[in-house]
Amino acid sequence: MTVPRLAILLSGRGSNFEALARAVRDGMVPAEIALVFSNRPAAPGLEIARRLGFETAALAGSGQEREAYDRQVVELLRARGVEWVCLAGYMRLLSGYFIEQYRGKILNIHPSLLPAFPGLEAQKQALDYGVKFAGCTVHFVDETVDGGPIIAQAIVPVRDDDDEDTLAARILEQEHRLYPEALRLVLGGRYRIEGRRVIMA
Ligand code: GRF
Repeated sequence: MTVPRLAILLSGRGSNFEALARAVRDGMVPAEIALVFSNRPAAPGLEIARRLGFETAALAGSGQEREAYDRQVVELLRARGVEWVCLAGYMRLLSGYFIEQYRGKILNIHPSLLPAFPGLEAQKQALDYGVKFAGCTVHFVDETVDGGPIIAQAIVPVRDDDDEDTLAARILEQEHRLYPEALRLVLGGRYRIEGRRVIMA
């Protein structure tokens, strides 16, 4: 049986990538990570990927026109037979071209209970707003920012003594659990999308 080939796109630390890599290694997610890609050649996550023996690639993204850049990225993915893309702290908006090429096959994780607090500094937004429950969301990527159909969410209660760091750390723990779980569900293929709803069969 052939397993689906994944690419992980990251820009920073890479802890979600590590969680996914662990889940693949342990057989929880039946897939192969064919490429770890970054728009930041110095991203610590790339270094971790190299150490773990994954193929990596980087193309410095700054100043490049979005679609022209993404055409290069998609070429790298296609050349490796990549069918699924997991964004894991990838800090560059995807072009319509990229999304069209991998429609319904791109996942992202965001550190809030979407649709609350999309965009940057989601944990700070949650604290500033004063919500009592924060969390994280794994969703399909479409042309909207953090707005595609939701696959899975996890709730993290906000404590009175939380600051941005403590809250982000507890959310991150849940991210590491949720992302592999959501990926496993989706790769299993037993779901349908009705409007915005992802319904598991
Ligand atoms: C995570 O909080 C993720 O939800 C957000 O960016 C952060 C990436 O962290 N999209 P890491 O690089 O996976 O450690």
